[in-house]
Amino acid sequence: MKKIDDLLGNNKPKKNIVVCGWVKTFRGNRFIAINDGSCIANLQCVIDYENTESSILKKINTGAAVKIIGDLISSKGSGQNLEIIVNKISIIGESDSESYPIQPKRHSLEFLREKAHLRIRTTTFNAIMRIRSVLSFAVHEFFQEKNFYYINTPIITGSDAEGAGEMFKVTTLSSDVSEKNIDYKKDFFGKQTHLTVSGQLEAESYAMGLGNVYTFSPTFRAENSNTTRHLAEFWMIEPEMAFYDLNDNMNLAEEFIKSVLSRILSKCAKDLKFLNDRYDSEQKNKPMRERSEMGLIEKINFVVNNSFKRVTYTDSFNILKNCKPNKKNKFKYKIDEWGVDLQSEHERFLVEKHFKCPVIIYDYPAKIKAFYMRMNDDQKTVRAMDVLFPGIGEIAGGSQREERLDVLEKRMEEMKIDKNELWWYLDLRRYGSVPHSGFGLGFERLVQFTTGMGNIRDVIPFPRTPQNASF
Ligand code: 4AD
Ligand code: MG
Repeated sequence: MKKIDDLLGNNKPKKNIVVCGWVKTFRGNRFIAINDGSCIANLQCVIDYENTESSILKKINTGAAVKIIGDLISSKGSGQNLEIIVNKISIIGESDSESYPIQPKRHSLEFLREKAHLRIRTTTFNAIMRIRSVLSFAVHEFFQEKNFYYINTPIITGSDAEGAGEMFKVTTLSSDVSEKNIDYKKDFFGKQTHLTVSGQLEAESYAMGLGNVYTFSPTFRAENSNTTRHLAEFWMIEPEMAFYDLNDNMNLAEEFIKSVLSRILSKCAKDLKFLNDRYDSEQKNKPMRERSEMGLIEKINFVVNNSFKRVTYTDSFNILKNCKPNKKNKFKYKIDEWGVDLQSEHERFLVEKHFKCPVIIYDYPAKIKAFYMRMNDDQKTVRAMDVLFPGIGEIAGGSQREERLDVLEKRMEEMKIDKNELWWYLDLRRYGSVPHSGFGLGFERLVQFTTGMGNIRDVIPFPRTPQNASF
């Protein structure tokens, strides 16, 4: 059996080909377009209507699975170079054309989310998921070529101190016990456990013996964020490097993002072209001020070919304080006092309006960042960095980690982080502590940027969001 991508890619006529796929359309009792998920293009199969049994013809419906044996020839019609003259067709799986939800027309993404088990049959989701697959592999290629080790950190965690977000509880205790009376000693693990929000702390431990490591894992956050950029279950890539300072960390993040994007440009040209055209037509439906100035492929090339702007929190704060963001000259969230957290409207202003390129903001106020980030000599800021992208906002966040035991303990006390719980994390500072750094990049946000999809729910097969865990 051949894949359509191979047949069309070879571009050579050939006799007695066997292909299988799903029927997209059946026109004029003559032309069946089938797709097998291997590429954007459908294969046109020309059937001899008069000499095909009517019982079979009736079953050539959109969505049906078919097996075709025939000769691949140069096509006389426009729109394709090759087509198959069908010698034999068999129906592998019937499809009821009345009730099949994926009709040959453009469906709204909202509608397709309700049909997440079948939306992969559409050209759009086919293209997105192929790109997602190539991107995952590109992540591994990048780190493996740099001799980073891939490590697997726990999904169920016993330490809840990272502070990256609200956590889902993991328990086997009966749910009718009231919260106050729960005795976690009786629970499965003999203590309270959660689904992890990040593998960072464990990755730090492994970097302290393997040098350079990375994780690529599902992570979970129980925040009630109903936005186009948040999922309750998402995949995160977290490299962690011994002997790296913040500057090395920023260099790595930039090189990494550029590397995986260039691979997509070279390996997924046809899927990208399709999504590029889709993106263009979506832009036309948006109000002028929300339209992207660049096309999708242009945007990706722009990121690959330009340096990310690096700017401190303090400089960003001053730009934002003195800027005129819109007609009202106001942000929804005020930027008045040094130390306030930047909201996505501020980040987007810096990236999309002010610098007009990806931006890395670093040296954030200690107050708004996690306990493990390295304190600067000013005692006010920490060695944090956020990588901000057009349309997406924060795509990655990281820091140089606090490697000094006394400073870390002091920060934990100030931020009311339980030192007993993280005894093992403190041990890493007791025995052979070294400067080290890392970051976390949200994989779906990367897929979103690469495919130009407006909603993060459309770049993961079965999205988990508040009030939604179907499938
Ligand atoms: O900035 P965050 O919370 O950082 C951490 O978890 C650190 N432990 C990372 C590290 O230094 N190793 O999350 C990292 C990235 C964000 O920049 C964003 O891209 C993504 O994870 N992210 C989400 N993606 C989808 N849905 C959500 N709810 C997300 N929350 C964060
Ligand atoms: Mg962050």
